[in-house]
Amino acid sequence: MAVLPIRFVPEAVLRQKARPVERIDTILLRLLEDMIETMYEARGIGLAAPQVGISKRVIVVDIGDGPICLINPKLDELEGEEIGPEGCLSIPGVQGEVKRAAKLVARGVDEQGRKVRIPAEGLLARVFQHEVDHLDGRLFTDIASGIRDGTRQGQEEEEEEEVEA
Ligand code: NI
Repeated sequence: MAVLPIRFVPEAVLRQKARPVERIDTILLRLLEDMIETMYEARGIGLAAPQVGISKRVIVVDIGDGPICLINPKLDELEGEEIGPEGCLSIPGVQGEVKRAAKLVARGVDEQGRKVRIPAEGLLARVFQHEVDHLDGRLFTDIASGIRDGTRQGQEEEEEEEVEA
């Protein structure tokens, strides 16, 4: 496994619509492993392939219950609304409040090619929405309110919550 370099705004790959995965091969499995390691190293709770420069529809998520890999993810059965803080590993230091669906079902294929269906709410639902947005070239700052840049304010307190994704 290897830690991959994270791409930061305004790199073009972050604004591209990522391509669906057509085949799960050793290259893709290696990418998934490396993305998980990269996410942990960066202390994030989610990572999408475009954030490591790969324009493919692949995300990894871990909100503390172990890693989830989702290939060609789709979100449906979105319900409710919740506003909460978000940050992004590709936009260091910046946080904002984002309105997201409170509940959803994430569907896709896992690393073994099996169809998966993951009901999610709260933080997990939020991270899925944040990561799938990355696959469509959308960043949380496009839809956030109250955006604040901790890097400009200098000595800000430690992040109150782990929401980097
Ligand atoms: Ni992000």
